[in-house]
Amino acid sequence: SRANMNPFNEDGSRRTDTHVYDGVKFPWYVPRTSLEAMQSFEVRPDDVWICTYSKSGTAWIIEIVWKILSASGDIKGDEPLDKAPYPDFHVFGPVPNHEMLTKAPSPRLIATHLLPKFLPPQLLEKQPKVLYVARNPKDVAVSNYHHCNTLPNIKSFDSFQDLLNDFMSGEIIFGEWPDHVLYWWKKRDEDNVLFSKYEDMKKDLVGTVRMVCKFLGKSLTDEQINSVAQQCTFDAMKKNKTRDNLCVIAGIDPKDTPFMRKGKVGGWKGSFTVAQSEKMDKWYHEAIDGTELSFEF
Ligand code: A3P
Repeated sequence: SRANMNPFNEDGSRRTDTHVYDGVKFPWYVPRTSLEAMQSFEVRPDDVWICTYSKSGTAWIIEIVWKILSASGDIKGDEPLDKAPYPDFHVFGPVPNHEMLTKAPSPRLIATHLLPKFLPPQLLEKQPKVLYVARNPKDVAVSNYHHCNTLPNIKSFDSFQDLLNDFMSGEIIFGEWPDHVLYWWKKRDEDNVLFSKYEDMKKDLVGTVRMVCKFLGKSLTDEQINSVAQQCTFDAMKKNKTRDNLCVIAGIDPKDTPFMRKGKVGGWKGSFTVAQSEKMDKWYHEAIDGTELSFEF
């Protein structure tokens, strides 16, 4: 059975509705049918999976991986509009992404924000390379707020406080931050997993590119590595509008893109009150204390 994927309501306004699947809230463009299809989604050993909590640097790591695989000759041809489709999304046209991906040539780049319990079981069996990017939850929350309040196909929040309430209770779309980040943190030493942090990527982009290159088993020259890094700075990505394409295919004015907003560490300081910050500190420590995971804020 097909889900109703018309992006407009009867009155012509854009759909922003959500639904709950297995205890987690999802936007309308991640329909139940696609979530169910994940259970039998075929994973290939040579896939590259980008697993992130939303607003943690997904577009950034996709760009890095793409440029590396393109420089190494593994990916040929023009840049597609969507470099790393989300298998659980069904935004563009009649075919859900998971169906489109079954016909995509290898190596496939696949991105997802899904919590572990929704991921294809084959991800564990086939052990493709998985890149995880984690970001401090205060910057994630601010970025998320702008994301929801900028994109017309997502329900917006009346206030930042409302976003914070949903974020900390796990009622936000795609679910809980702690469950997401801690699952992958525990897998950080597995050979097929690269766990990186947004804050470290900001500090040393060339080093990050080198590390991703090694992880993917690609040997690029220093010149190629520097060139990839140069193409993946915030300014370069903002200028070349690579991420705007996601808006274009979703029929959204690319001037409204929240994908290249500020790109800073610690930007949250301009949005949180002292009370909000203290409340999140408490929540954060309850979630991560005893796990050895830490973030720069
Ligand atoms: P801000 O909203 O804080 O600016 P995602 O791709 O997971 O949706 O994450 C988006 C966040 O990553 C945005 O954060 C965006 O600006 C930031 N970002 C994207 N590309 C970046 C880059 N090259 N360098 C630093 N930050 C980047």
